Amino acid sequence: MGNKKVIWLTGASTGIGLAIAKTTISKGYFVYATSRRADVIEGELMVCNGKYSALNCDVTEPESVNETYRTIISNSGKVDVLINNAGVTAFKSFTDTDLNDYNRIMDTNSRGTFLCSKAVIDGMKQRKSGMIINILSIAAISSLTESSVYSASKSAILTYSNVLREEVRKDRIKICNILPGATNTEMWAEEVREKFHDKMMNSESISDVVNYVLDAPDDIAIEEIIVKPVEGNI
Ligand SMILES: NC(=O)c1ccc[n+]([C@@H]2O[C@H](COP(=O)([O-])OP(=O)(O)OC[C@H]3O[C@@H](n4cnc5c(N)ncnc54)[C@H](OP(=O)(O)O)[C@@H]3O)[C@@H](O)[C@H]2O)c1
Repeated sequence: MGNKKVIWLTGASTGIGLAIAKTTISKGYFVYATSRRADVIEGELMVCNGKYSALNCDVTEPESVNETYRTIISNSGKVDVLINNAGVTAFKSFTDTDLNDYNRIMDTNSRGTFLCSKAVIDGMKQRKSGMIINILSIAAISSLTESSVYSASKSAILTYSNVLREEVRKDRIKICNILPGATNTEMWAEEVREKFHDKMMNSESISDVVNYVLDAPDDIAIEEIIVKPVEGNI
């Protein structure tokens, strides 16, 4: 593994996360590609022989998150970049959203990002270097119907990450929030993807944005990026 930069990527089995895994591996990073289904990740990435490790990690479970971090440290000694990408939604009106929906969305998106960021931050502070990239959503700064709790989960991350950034600037840790609009992934129902596929962004385009952030010079911190489909929200 040598001196390769090490990425811990959550939600790597499908969609945007899978695209990020493929491009970062191809650019020479060693990627710990994680989700609840390491077998699916393994099936997708096996052609990238030896340049990644697929691990089971449920971001809603503190023990699973901490175990994953311990495994990465014991194998690679560090996490250079954490990419908080795992996320879920429900596409329901507020009236139809129940407590189970609320807990699932908040626990995965907001709490999951909190737990993973907590796991890596002390090590990054000790090394005086590191980057956390959060895949949020334009929902964090918009009022999208049928996305109330999802929006709240993403704006919660936006807010606490902006505060975290100020707290760790002196340690040269960069925090970047990426806010994509509609992207053609399994998050959307099949009929929506069929109807709007030419108005949605591709996962690969979002992964290009992530690589742009990763490639930025050492002396700059890209803090927030809003990415929308050319024709706007669907
Ligand atoms: N698609 C869009 O329009 C859009 C727009 C803006 C932002 N985003 C954000 O982009 C991120 C990726 O979503 P996507 O669109 O690529 O959807 P996706 O294809 O459904 O991917 C979601 C990923 O999250 C993982 N995941 C879900 N629950 C998890 C848990 N408890 N622990 C660990 N991993 C979990 C899934 O893996 P497993 O099921 O294998 O665990 C999967 O890899 C999300 O944060 C989403 O909010 C999406």
